[in-house]
Amino acid sequence: MRVLIVFSTTEGHARKLAEFGAVRLTSLGHQVQVQDAAESNVPDPIGFDCALLVASVHVSRYQRSFIEFASKHCAALNRIPNAFVSVSLSAAGDNPCDLAGLRNCVERLELETHWHPGVVHHAAGAMLFRAYGFFTKLVIRFIAQRRGKVVNTSKDYDLTDYIALETFIDDFAANATLRWESDRDGFINRAAAAGHALTEPWQPATQLRDGHPSTAPFLRLIFSAN
Ligand SMILES: Cc1cc2nc3c(=O)[nH]c(=O)nc-3n(C[C@H](O)[C@H](O)[C@H](O)COP(=O)(O)O)c2cc1C
Repeated sequence: MRVLIVFSTTEGHARKLAEFGAVRLTSLGHQVQVQDAAESNVPDPIGFDCALLVASVHVSRYQRSFIEFASKHCAALNRIPNAFVSVSLSAAGDNPCDLAGLRNCVERLELETHWHPGVVHHAAGAMLFRAYGFFTKLVIRFIAQRRGKVVNTSKDYDLTDYIALETFIDDFAANATLRWESDRDGFINRAAAAGHALTEPWQPATQLRDGHPSTAPFLRLIFSAN
């Protein structure tokens, strides 16, 4: 499958997780394109078979560039299998208030963008003290302390559970592949039942750009009546 990964980051950890996802999906045999939502040339998801989005929480919000991307492409994203990896420090613990706060972040994202993530994974983020300014260092150390973690602010801490993330990505890819295959097989069966022969190899994703709801994968196939 052609997979689009779009990420937004402030200190770089969400980029690292997006690249981790790209390496994993490539190793599973998929064609992957990774893109920073803040760049000007982010492709339209309509040209892809599925999409994985990654963004981090800062003061209970995702990056502006991410919200803009998801809003602009909500229709295309909602049409293909898609998943969201939300990166935060709250996800590192099991505090019910923190976890409820994360659910609120995703709900607000959906309200703002009209994109409805197919599946969501809350990945614990990082404390990158060496990249923080003085004030941010103090705030993050204070937050860590309130959750019972003693930190050394001359070090960085990566709290992501990479095995859990890999499992999430594998499950997402497996489900998206099933849907991709069943769309294709369904189409071939319908074509056969209707007495048509396919004259072009299967093109699962489409470059449709007119914004119509998707019968889209089917439009790239040309029939010749027997
Ligand atoms: C200024 C600042 C604000 C943050 N606000 C939150 C927050 O509201 N909730 C939370 O769970 N984590 C918060 N975090 C933690 C980040 O989500 C975490 O460090 C993440 O790994 C950052 O990813 P990034 O490197 O992609 O920006 C904050 C971090 C910073 C530096």
